[in-house]
Amino acid sequence: MNTPLRQFIAVVPAAGVGSRMQAGKPKQYLEIQGKTVLEHTLNALLAHPAVSKIIVAVAPDDPYPAQLAFLRQPKIQLTTGGDTRAQSVFNGLCQIDSPQNTWVLVHDAARPCLNRQDLNRLLEIDDENGAILAVPAVDTVKRATEQQQIQRTEDRSRLWLAQTPQLFRADLLKHALQQAFVQGFSVTDEASAMELMGFRPHLVAGRGDNIKITRPEDLALAEFYLSRTL
Ligand code: CTP
Ligand code: MG
Repeated sequence: MNTPLRQFIAVVPAAGVGSRMQAGKPKQYLEIQGKTVLEHTLNALLAHPAVSKIIVAVAPDDPYPAQLAFLRQPKIQLTTGGDTRAQSVFNGLCQIDSPQNTWVLVHDAARPCLNRQDLNRLLEIDDENGAILAVPAVDTVKRATEQQQIQRTEDRSRLWLAQTPQLFRADLLKHALQQAFVQGFSVTDEASAMELMGFRPHLVAGRGDNIKITRPEDLALAEFYLSRTL
């Protein structure tokens, strides 16, 4: 069970360029209702009393953070991101003073619609395997051949789509990412690095509106979801 005193540090990778978004700037700096996507995302985390600090990894040459007043507050710390999302997360983890005693919540900068109830349910998990928010697959899932024909239909009942936040002990995640780098294993989320080390992170069913803004059409959807939660 979660104790009220358990505190969490959030690491937010925000060093991507948003190539699929095809906007004039990285998607975390696009505006929804007068605020950047990044500000919406950080607000969802800052609103939770158990989140004591947020480490945001931004690209080394990124001109935007210096212009954004909301980043200048005691709970937010900036660090330099890397060439991949996993490297950006790792750089964030390196800013944590005592990882053995810290639980870390990794959350994409591009997911501004995180819901408080989902976050609460994730934070209830107190297990060194860790836990992630995810949604069960709703569409029928096909595996393709190289010629893009259907090879077979997968059993959907056991398939989940991973979201963030993802919750782990900071020292275990840091070690897992290090091992993934050494083995040349490409990790698209934190859980996959932990899986590589033999951990079995818990799947916490989240809401489908916790979308990652990825393609141009996603911005209007995020705007709609955020307008309902105001
Ligand atoms: N990210 C990061 N460092 C990278 C690449 C991605 O911190 N080198 C972050 C992004 O800023 C985003 C999150 O990881 O918040 C999820 O990545 P994704 O949706 O793939 O964002 P981008 O890489 O920016 O987009 P794209 O893949 O379309 O270029
Ligand atoms: Mg990417």
